Amino acid sequence: MSVDAAAQDKKVRLGILLSGRGSNFLAIEESIHAGKLPGVQIAIVISSVAEAAGIAAAAELGLPHAVLASKGRKRAEHDAEVAALLKAHGVDLVCLAGYMRLLSPEFVAAFPHRILNIHPSLLPAFPGLDAQQQAFDYGVKVTGCTVHFVDDELDHGAIILQRSIPVLDGDDAHSLAARILAEEHIAYTEAIARVVSGEYEVRGRRYVKTGSEGASHPSGHKSPAGDPGREQGSK
Ligand code: GRF
Repeated sequence: MSVDAAAQDKKVRLGILLSGRGSNFLAIEESIHAGKLPGVQIAIVISSVAEAAGIAAAAELGLPHAVLASKGRKRAEHDAEVAALLKAHGVDLVCLAGYMRLLSPEFVAAFPHRILNIHPSLLPAFPGLDAQQQAFDYGVKVTGCTVHFVDDELDHGAIILQRSIPVLDGDDAHSLAARILAEEHIAYTEAIARVVSGEYEVRGRRYVKTGSEGASHPSGHKSPAGDPGREQGSK
């Protein structure tokens, strides 16, 4: 497994960051509960917004949770606090689940290749806010969602997986968003499982499965055991 805790046979500890309704967080929690993510546990849920429904849900579930309000805070300062809290809870893998904050380079560097994000479009199309509306307005016939590693640029890091849906003639932006969200809930669990398995390499921008499920690399290169998820061929 690429996540160090898993290599030591400990549970992989997720840190969930959210700012709103929290349906992706709840989908991840349900997957863990249903045994779909064995060896994974939620170490802490952090919200940047006090009123977020997602943080109320975390409290109700009895999960460790905290509000670190970001409003009016300097990004670097706020990020340092969030990173410290994640570290204090032994977080191995950070999952952004509707976290409405751009992360500072320092935060990204604090969890190298250990931050995932979900975005409601087929990136690189329609990054940023209101991706579903953007896709609808553009008139695309296929859209979907993307789970990717987070790097220093917005909605940009290497793509772990995408799920697509057709845009129907009868859709409006609302119905489209609802069908994308259903795919997001499947995609995030699958992406976490893939990352925790460690059976992948990132070659430049390309996430490539290795191990029994993945195709072998033409050069025959295999990841060394214990850290198969490190970046390959990137500068
Ligand atoms: C999702 O559409 C996600 O793709 C985007 O923010 C939204 C969060 O929804 N990044 P929820 O809070 O998980 O319900």
